[in-house]
Amino acid sequence: MAQLSGKSVYLTGGASGIGKAVTETFINEGALVTVLDKSAAGLEELKQEFGDHVQCIEGDVTEYQDHVHAVGAAVEFAGKLDVLVANAGVFDGFAKFNQVTPEAMSDAYDFLFNINVKGYFNCAKASAEELKKTKGNMIFTVSGAGFYPDGGGVWYTASKHAQIGLMRQLAFELAPDIRVNAVAPGGTLTALHVIEPLKSFVNSVDQDTKAKSIKSRNPLRIAMASEDHVAAYLLLASDQSRAITGEVISSDGGLAVRGLS
Ligand SMILES: NC(=O)c1ccc[n+]([C@@H]2O[C@H](COP(=O)([O-])OP(=O)(O)OC[C@H]3O[C@@H](n4cnc5c(N)ncnc54)[C@H](O)[C@@H]3O)[C@@H](O)[C@H]2O)c1
Repeated sequence: MAQLSGKSVYLTGGASGIGKAVTETFINEGALVTVLDKSAAGLEELKQEFGDHVQCIEGDVTEYQDHVHAVGAAVEFAGKLDVLVANAGVFDGFAKFNQVTPEAMSDAYDFLFNINVKGYFNCAKASAEELKKTKGNMIFTVSGAGFYPDGGGVWYTASKHAQIGLMRQLAFELAPDIRVNAVAPGGTLTALHVIEPLKSFVNSVDQDTKAKSIKSRNPLRIAMASEDHVAAYLLLASDQSRAITGEVISSDGGLAVRGLS
């Protein structure tokens, strides 16, 4: 029996990486998914792969009206909205606070917080009314960087902590109508972008080096793929988790049990 049969999902950043893997799983489990992403090429591919099960909307998560448009389109597409997955995000490339200029620090803050934090505020606000009607739920993609240092630089780490704060406060305020939870992936082999204002302060890393570094940091020694995280999203989206709100499921190879060595 499909776990999301007849559910309507709105997901940001579904044209690539973790969001794309979640989109595929949710469609396979019977959902209709509306994806907002800024990558026209990525959306085109998604449409080719999933046809009538996906609705693709080109837009920018920093623009509130783009979410209003996407939520309206999701309701038109599927007759309702059951699940929001806030997922689109960008990275700081582990840029070192001490090494950037004050101008770059400020530009990077505006750029990254606008996408990673305001983007989540925006989609939560634009979806809340429709989710209330269905007693639906929100799922935020956070990160191990939402708990621990060195999952990124200060911008990314602070933004992921902020996302967890937003998730917990919303879980409090939106109960009993809407459940709000998060998935915290560990380092995952995706195309996650380093933002423009920090590019000149970081070294680009190839996928092989990234895989080795991720493996060496988590106890399970896994260089994670996007597909490794989808089970957590599926559980939180489905009615099986009707008693779970305000929680983060870590899907990170065991970062919390690294020990002292
Ligand atoms: N890759 C990792 O190691 C890792 C680990 C933990 C958490 N995460 C989180 O997972 C989420 C997804 O990242 P990913 O690794 O799959 O990266 P990705 O780059 O493969 O996917 C991100 C998607 O978001 C879209 N996007 C970026 N900015 C946007 C904007 N302003 N408006 C609309 N769409 C926009 C991109 O076009 C892309 O399709 C992010 O929140 C990221 O912080 C990633």
